[in-house]
Amino acid sequence: MSSHTLLILAGDGIGPEVMNEVRKVIDWHNDNSPLCFTIDDDLVGGAAFDVHGVPLHDDTLTRARAADAVLLGAVGAPKYDTLPFDSKPERGLLALRRELDLFANLRPALCFDALADSSSLKRDVVAGLDIMIVRELTAGMYFGEPRGIRVEADGSRTGINTHRYSTEEIRRVARSACDLARQRRGRVCSMEKANVMESGILWREEVQWVVDNEYPDIDLSHMYADAGAMELVREPRQFDVIVTDNLFGDILSDAAAMLTGSLGMLPSASLGQRSAKGLPAALYEPVHGSAPDIAGQGVANPCACVLSFAMALRYSFGCSAEATALETAVESALADGIRTPDLQQTGSGRPASTSEVGDAIIDRLQRS
Ligand code: IPM
Ligand code: MG
Repeated sequence: MSSHTLLILAGDGIGPEVMNEVRKVIDWHNDNSPLCFTIDDDLVGGAAFDVHGVPLHDDTLTRARAADAVLLGAVGAPKYDTLPFDSKPERGLLALRRELDLFANLRPALCFDALADSSSLKRDVVAGLDIMIVRELTAGMYFGEPRGIRVEADGSRTGINTHRYSTEEIRRVARSACDLARQRRGRVCSMEKANVMESGILWREEVQWVVDNEYPDIDLSHMYADAGAMELVREPRQFDVIVTDNLFGDILSDAAAMLTGSLGMLPSASLGQRSAKGLPAALYEPVHGSAPDIAGQGVANPCACVLSFAMALRYSFGCSAEATALETAVESALADGIRTPDLQQTGSGRPASTSEVGDAIIDRLQRS
């Protein structure tokens, strides 16, 4: 029996709805597998702001540090759009990433065969797609200093952000990408804009250094990020692992998500250093946002959130077999046509609700 603590931060919008389906999966494990999880719940984003006046309370951060893994739903809603920048829901998520030093963000884009026709690209371009985007998550444009909006002498304003990377910030995420590639097809493609940015030149040189000195077995290539975006939609299956910076990774992973049929399918893991206990600092969240337009209607696709928990099983707790079983259960429910509206094919009857998809996943876990 191995016992683990989870902190659930369901957040805003559809976050709590999709997280409810993950709770079913956790309960199922507690009742039916040797794994045992203890759940702690707390607030993040707008939900935290409503109660505490800040999007991430210090106590929540302390509990996040103490937990073996954090599961996050989503943050953000239109009613917070007018808040000051530092109070916005997104700042809570960014603070968590930064404070837990979650520098490697893993975003797998996997096209389940059952969904190949839901993609906006042709089936023969996406069928069998299996790429892993590794996005640097704690530096670059999102956090670089100086930043801000400066009022000039003539009253005009200048918006400033800094795209800044150090050697070690690049090397450590490059190592994460190479470690993953070793478990996969052994190829890494690094994306930057070395043709226009000095930080891109450094990025390219340091990733190359890591491979030359520490991972000579890895087949490394480099691509400018704009060309990478084009290649992702032209011939996505050419890629195995893509490693890129925080801002390019944000954009490229949304594009990759659509290849898989729906943004509602893409999970993510954000990983940091390993603790003395041997577990990495870790936060798992679906890539989709809070989707305020459909929140509260019971129609949100819970698959990305459930698949994020599968990543927790694999990357935090070393339970690959259990992770694969959960992924297979999701795929089987989808293949049987139990799908939320975002994945519905025309003429295929009534779409399933969020909780019906969750129940179908449990049903298939039970039968596995
Ligand atoms: C993501 C999101 C976040 C980001 C937002 C919600 C701050 O788009 O995780 O991709 O920009 O990183
Ligand atoms: Mg994004």
